Amino acid sequence: MSHAPLILALETSCDETSAAVLRGERDVLGHVILSQDVHRLYGGVVPELASRAHLRVITDVVDGALAEAGVGIDQIDVFGVTAGPGLIGALLVGVAWAKGAAYAARRPLVAVHHMEAHLFAVNVENEDARPPFVALLVSGGHTMLLWVPEWGRYELLGETRDDAAGEAFDKVAKILGLGYPGGPVIQRVAAEGDPAAHPFPRPLLHGGQRPGDADYYDFSFSGLKTAVLNRVRELEAQGRLEEEVPSLAASFQAAVVDVLVAKTMRAVEATGCRRVVLGGGVAASRALRAALAEGLGEGGELYYPSARLATDNAAMIVRAALFHYRRGETAGLDLTARADLPFPGLVGR
Ligand code: KG4
Ligand code: ZN
Repeated sequence: MSHAPLILALETSCDETSAAVLRGERDVLGHVILSQDVHRLYGGVVPELASRAHLRVITDVVDGALAEAGVGIDQIDVFGVTAGPGLIGALLVGVAWAKGAAYAARRPLVAVHHMEAHLFAVNVENEDARPPFVALLVSGGHTMLLWVPEWGRYELLGETRDDAAGEAFDKVAKILGLGYPGGPVIQRVAAEGDPAAHPFPRPLLHGGQRPGDADYYDFSFSGLKTAVLNRVRELEAQGRLEEEVPSLAASFQAAVVDVLVAKTMRAVEATGCRRVVLGGGVAASRALRAALAEGLGEGGELYYPSARLATDNAAMIVRAALFHYRRGETAGLDLTARADLPFPGLVGR
């Protein structure tokens, strides 16, 4: 194999400004992730503030990654960037920066789909995490169940019909007055609560479903959020809300995990492949990992990224860019960001 290229990639699709420099698949030489704190004030990401914050720090974040890697920008062989999906103003900051850098350095530019990159995240850390596998992508904006026979070929089995799994964590955390982002704080508070205390619904999950049914693999989290809200109002009226917050968090988390695991196990049964890859911020959930490991049992293989690579980061963007670069898929200087960029290589449904 030829000398592995040195790739610098940027990620600015949401509220993390990140840059990474990798040599080949998993030699992370430099990696900076800056989480924008400003959104905490509002309990969710404010798009305009996100764009401005990216713009303010992007150059320092790139310089930081290069300095950590001990290389100059003139040594970079290929530039990669998240071109979508995400917040359009936020994406444009990264895309414009990467286009400028690639043009100035006369090097190729590779456009990366943010969710495909989440699929590649764990492969940066573990070369065994490669197809074939069943993938569960669970982030703040997306929830997708995929069958991945090979890189670049993705069969969509199911997806959310309304809120994403991470979005449900964020909204429920807001309802419970726990702050943003919701996943980590719900996980922390839930540890003190009883997951069986409040029997919340398991949306789109019941025993009578068959593989051909439209809802067999699909998800829905909006009704669950409303169920939590209704319970919160009841408890509030009874003056018992505060003492019940840990059990509400635990019961909500258990409901989300039950549905995610049950549907993933359906895909495992259908494909006969006991290898599962987790990606996206919700992959940081210990409850989800534990329940999936238990579901897969002895002969199963569960791969999930470390906390740093589960949430948004540029190392996974480099890894996905490398894949497309090797296939000769580079972008022109007419590249533009797209909030609704379609998933590349998606088949089925
Ligand atoms: O992938 P990501 O960083 O950003 C998007 O592409 O959306 O995912 C962020 C999401 C947030 O909704 C956050 O609440 C959730 O991941 N998250 C978690 C945990 N850590 C982060 N959800 C559940 N449990 C966690 N431990
Ligand atoms: Zn993400």
